[in-house]
Amino acid sequence: MKQSILVVDDERAICIAISRLLKARGYEVDTAQSAESAVEKLEQSVFHLVITDLSMGKMSGMDLLEWVKQHAPETAVIMITAYGSEKTAVEAMKLGASDYVPKPFDNDELELKVARVLETVAEKRENRLLREQVESTYRFENLVGKSPSMQRVFDVIRRVADSDLTVLVRGPSGTGKELVANAIHYNSPRRSKALIKVNCAAFSRELVESELFGHEKGAFTGATATKEGKFEIADGGTLFLDEIGDMALETQAKILRVLQEKELERVGGNRTIKVDVRVIAATNQDLEQKAKEGTFREDLFYRLNVVPILLPSLRDRPGDMPLLIAHFLEKAADRLGRPKKGLSPQAMRALLAHEWKGNVRELEHAIEQAVVLAAGEEIEVEDLPSGMTSDAVVAAAGAGAGDRDEPATFKEAKQRVVEGFERQFIEEALQRHSGNISKAAEEMGMYRQHLQGKLSEYEIDASVYRKKKS
Ligand SMILES: Nc1ncnc2c1ncn2[C@@H]1O[C@H](COP(=O)(O)OP(=O)(O)OP(=O)(O)O)[C@@H](O)[C@H]1O
Ligand SMILES: [Mg+2]
Repeated sequence: MKQSILVVDDERAICIAISRLLKARGYEVDTAQSAESAVEKLEQSVFHLVITDLSMGKMSGMDLLEWVKQHAPETAVIMITAYGSEKTAVEAMKLGASDYVPKPFDNDELELKVARVLETVAEKRENRLLREQVESTYRFENLVGKSPSMQRVFDVIRRVADSDLTVLVRGPSGTGKELVANAIHYNSPRRSKALIKVNCAAFSRELVESELFGHEKGAFTGATATKEGKFEIADGGTLFLDEIGDMALETQAKILRVLQEKELERVGGNRTIKVDVRVIAATNQDLEQKAKEGTFREDLFYRLNVVPILLPSLRDRPGDMPLLIAHFLEKAADRLGRPKKGLSPQAMRALLAHEWKGNVRELEHAIEQAVVLAAGEEIEVEDLPSGMTSDAVVAAAGAGAGDRDEPATFKEAKQRVVEGFERQFIEEALQRHSGNISKAAEEMGMYRQHLQGKLSEYEIDASVYRKKKS
């Protein structure tokens, strides 16, 4: 999609001059010789930018600016002002003009301003697109993700939610296992009943068992009263067994029995209690390995693993990053009652370049911190957690600098790392999509033209990634 510009000036010669200049730069340009006819054109088609003269017939450039801000808020306006009339220029900026050029203008200056303004317009549109995506297709309850791996997870949740099947959710720390359990429960027919969570790693075996199955009065020292277990409390609902990989073998046997027979006895009791509970279990441990070593019951593993859900680490789905970032920016601003802020391009790159060993949770915390710290209009690199800005970036610059000249400044060093990252990020996306630029751009949450610009900037040849017929 070409970017389109409407030039408005009552002097035909100026319309033609600007139009010619900008068409030569690849923009789509239309002209209008009055604010009224500009409005007509704006009502009929979408323009990304309006460049308008200030003094025209009845309706002035300022009136047109107001009209645009009201009716086409995503269209930017550059005001052409008379030479030396800074006051009017300031006034126009206050009313929402993106920039102004004094007349007579310099071609280079006009071109530069147009390019800069259109870049912000594109950025804003990308942000809006991301926001819409966060709110719609790429969202499942509180989970967001557009990568194929996350879309598959959403599919599985949708398909199994209304059954009673046992689900085993696996994945590294901070990848959203608990959110998956929530999503399943709240989309199941059990949603009006309880979702009870038990951390199986938190206590000693005795305590875990008393938590899960309850106990009778006097069952052990300290058992001063009869207590219901979480299985009973969750009756009719869902029980989330978190960190199931850390459960003692003896307890595993008891869980297996509840899963198979749907009945249990409280600790120290002999009355059989029937329960109707759906179980969702989660772990970040390698249960197959534990089964081989004899620390996890194989039969329980199979009984839990009826529906396996595997959450990939954040590193393996870079395409989800822009979406998650947009989601957390919004969430943090809402929660903290702060104005919604965007990220500076540098801050965005720093986030994209970080390793995120703590996965989505670490990303969420980083953004919360930045939202709290950011004093300016945008979140800057300095507002991000310190470990990921200076240390990580400089270290990476040092590591990559060997085969090139030493970078002269911190800024240069950072620039190199960022470029290196961007290049790799893009190349990997192209690889995944066999050189299909549109698909790669979509996954990265970028416009196709934007990606194409990057490809030529980095001299990347997308056709290299196209699958060769063997
Ligand atoms: N896909 C996602 N979309 C939105 N938020 C997410 C997503 N994945 C994780 N989060 C957020 O990250 C944080 C960690 O998620 P969660 O507690 O579900 O992770 P976990 O896999 O259970 O981690 P752990 O193994 O450490 O318990 C939460 O605040 C959650 O809201
Ligand atoms: Mg968890």
